[in-house]
Parts: sequence; structure tokens; C-alpha cells
Amino acid sequence: MKKFIIAGLLSSLAFSTQASEISADQQEARSIVKEFGGQLVPALKGAMKSGGPVAAIDVCNTKAPAIAKGLTEKHAPWNVNRVSLKPRGATATPDAWETETLKWFDEQIAAGADPKKLEKFEIVKVDGKETTRYMKPVMTGGLCLTCHGTAKQIPEGVKAKLADLYPNDKAIDYSEGQVRGAFSFQK
Ligand code: HEC
Repeated sequence: MKKFIIAGLLSSLAFSTQASEISADQQEARSIVKEFGGQLVPALKGAMKSGGPVAAIDVCNTKAPAIAKGLTEKHAPWNVNRVSLKPRGATATPDAWETETLKWFDEQIAAGADPKKLEKFEIVKVDGKETTRYMKPVMTGGLCLTCHGTAKQIPEGVKAKLADLYPNDKAIDYSEGQVRGAFSFQK
């Protein structure tokens, strides 16, 4: 009888330790999202205002990957990236777990979910190795359509530069309120 009680206590302890570890990781992932957005959005808005959209492409082309790299170094062992079902950037092609999660985000948004509250945190086993994964959707706003909208919405100069930099670009034809992609972190 005593044994059972101890076993029960131990397993509930194990559970609560694990639960608090999970929430610490999730909290950290959330704060990395804030850092990423906090660095990128003002840089993009500033560049759009001062130099126009063609010049602002440089922010997305060079600054966004640099921010991701900087945050990966700062928050090691987390790997910090952005992905999309219609990728543009060199590292934006999603793997199986990311693809599934991006589709789930789309479904949730279509069903009326609040994108601010939407996120996915999961510990998955890949080849026997535990990996902590986190994703948070990035929503399409009006400002984004200049570079991610329809052919009519994207100015000719932007089109030309995008075609030059991203010959396999899929990241167009979005409309406001759609999931453009997601922050995706793993460790
Ligand atoms: C000035 C043009 C421009 C604007 C405006 C712009 N983007 Fe992008 N976006 C890009 C480029 C270029 C890339 C590819 C970056 C790279 O090479 O890693 C990109 C990549 C992304 C990615 C990473 C996934 C992928 O497909 O590469 C996301 C997510 C994203 N943009 C979301 C947005 C959102 C949300 C907005 C509006 C707030 C926005 N973008 C506005 C040009 C733009």
C-alpha cells in the first residue's frame, strides 16, 4: 500500500516538474517571437517609409535572415526560423511537422480563431531524439500586400527585384487576414 502511495507521489511530481519545464520553454519561445517581430517590423516599416518598397526588399532579404541567425545564437540551443506553405526565403520550406502545423493554423483561422492566441508547442520524437518545437502564425496585413499580394498589388519594380532574388518565389497572392507563414523554433 505504502509503495503505491510513493509511486503515485513520484509520478505526480515527475508530471509537475515536466509541466513546469514545458511552460518555461513555451514562455521562452513566446519571448523570442516578440524579439523577432520587435526587430523586424520597425525595420521594415522604416525602410518602406524612407526608401520605398523596392529598397525595403533588402530588409527582408538580408536583415530578416540576420535577425534569425542572431536570435539562434542568443537563444541557443533554440533554432529560430520562419516558414511558409508558399515559401520565398531560402530556409522557409517547411518540414512535415511544420507543414501539418501551418495547415492546422489555416483551419483554425478559417474557423474564426484569434491569431494572437494561436500557437503550437509540442515535444516530438524524431529518430528516437526528443525535439521541442514551437510555432506561431504570422498574419498578412495590408502593408504586406506590396510584396506578398496579387500581381496588381505588387509594383513593377518590386516584381522585378523579387524575380531576380527569388526565381522560385511562391509567396504571392495573399490577402489581408490570411496566414502568411509562421515563426518556427526548435531545440
Ligand atoms: C518590401 C517587401 C516585403 C514586404 C512589404 C513584406 N515582405 Fe515578407 N518577405 C519579403 C522577402 C524578400 C522575403 C524573403 C526573406 C528571405 O530571403 O529570407 C519575405 C519573407 C517573409 C516570410 C518568411 C517566409 C517566406 O516565405 O520566406 C514571412 C513570414 C513574411 N515575409 C511575412 C511578411 C508579413 C507578415 C509582412 C507584412 C507585415 C511582410 N512579409 C511584408 C518581402 C516583403
